[in-house]
Amino acid sequence: MRSILVLNPKGGCGKSTLVTTLAGYYAERGKSVVLADFDPQGSSMDWVAGRPADHPPIRAVAAWEEPLRVPKDTDYLIIDSPAAIHNHRVMGDLLRRAQSVIIPVLPSPIDMRHAARFVAEMMELRRVVNQEVKLCTVANRVRDHTLAAASLSGYLESLKLPDGHKLPFLTVLRASQNYVHAAERGLSIFEFARSATLPDREQWEPVLRWLNSTRSQP
Ligand SMILES: Nc1ncnc2c1ncn2[C@@H]1O[C@H](COP(=O)(O)OP(=O)(O)OP(=O)(O)O)[C@@H](O)[C@H]1O
Ligand SMILES: [Mg+2]
Repeated sequence: MRSILVLNPKGGCGKSTLVTTLAGYYAERGKSVVLADFDPQGSSMDWVAGRPADHPPIRAVAAWEEPLRVPKDTDYLIIDSPAAIHNHRVMGDLLRRAQSVIIPVLPSPIDMRHAARFVAEMMELRRVVNQEVKLCTVANRVRDHTLAAASLSGYLESLKLPDGHKLPFLTVLRASQNYVHAAERGLSIFEFARSATLPDREQWEPVLRWLNSTRSQP
């Protein structure tokens, strides 16, 4: 089983969007997907509840209030996390369940400052130092050719892992109404017409390749 955690304590950076996009992607490919929502806001739970019956089902667990038991036949466990966690115990608990961690960051000075603090905290965690979990970053909700976009990419490019290697910065996801419409309908952009979502699909390619490679697995 592959386990993927989307983590960044900054509210609204796109955690639930990335989680539901991935869950829909793998489900649409016939994989057995469990979505564990650790956020009491329950955005990912709501997304699964709104999923049309004629699309492949996704099992959802309200993991903030019930024990997370993952069935044996699960191919992908995808974990949504709450905003505002800085508690090392909670973070450690989430990290213990994940092989791969995706950190989405938005192109704003505030989001980048938060990300800098958060990434620095992450680099001190035992599981990260020991490479028991693999991390990457993704720039999210980016408008092309803006100063903010360039400065976010430059910043994410510069991040290092505790061993001095680069923290993989995988892709830039554009700001797109496709994500908003998909969220409303319990679907993933990968379940929309290819022609309408081509730029988004292309931007996801590096993420899907990373998740499919040993680089994302301890
Ligand atoms: N690439 C994108 N393009 C357009 N809208 C986006 C994009 N990513 C996220 N959004 C929108 O931004 C809002 C916040 O995204 P999301 O809920 O995924 O963030 P979050 O990190 O899960 O927030 P929270 O910390 O509150 O759980 C949502 O309305 C979502 O539809
Ligand atoms: Mg969320």
